[in-house]
Amino acid sequence: MISERMTQAINEQIKNELESYYLYLSMAAYFHSANLDGMGRWMRIQAHEEMVHAMKLLDHLLDRGGKVQLPDLKQHKTEWESPLEAWQDAYKHEQFITSKINDLMDLAREEKDYQAQPLLTWFIEEQIEEEATSGKVAEEMAMVSDTKQGLFFMDRELGQRAFPANSPLDPAAYAAT
Ligand code: FEO
Repeated sequence: MISERMTQAINEQIKNELESYYLYLSMAAYFHSANLDGMGRWMRIQAHEEMVHAMKLLDHLLDRGGKVQLPDLKQHKTEWESPLEAWQDAYKHEQFITSKINDLMDLAREEKDYQAQPLLTWFIEEQIEEEATSGKVAEEMAMVSDTKQGLFFMDRELGQRAFPANSPLDPAAYAAT
């Protein structure tokens, strides 16, 4: 059985992951509307990953008899001054998520919750990748995005990211339905 404090903290983290999903979906829409479809695609895939993160936590709670009580989602930004600003926000957001995962691990240790720790270790490792990826794009965008050619190149590059199989966020998955 999972403790009340851990249950509450994991519910809070499910919310954080769903807010990440929502934020990246907004960024995807922002990029698509600016004809940056490669970046839009990249962000849809990122949103897919965030939904998976939320579901991993939700299943962990269910498996351990914790009550799932999802808090309201916070309204995030839906407009950005520039593509560069959106990428910088994505990087900042991942740093925020890392701090939340670290807090959760602190709590799991304090509560001697050994069952939660392997899952949280997975999230800690995932956050290394999440920060590295968004941070790298933000830096590259800062180098090149002041020219139309630079933006075009980045859009092409980021559009190479592949959707996981059967993602409901992949336009190809629902085009035929
Ligand atoms: Fe679920 Fe991008 O962290």
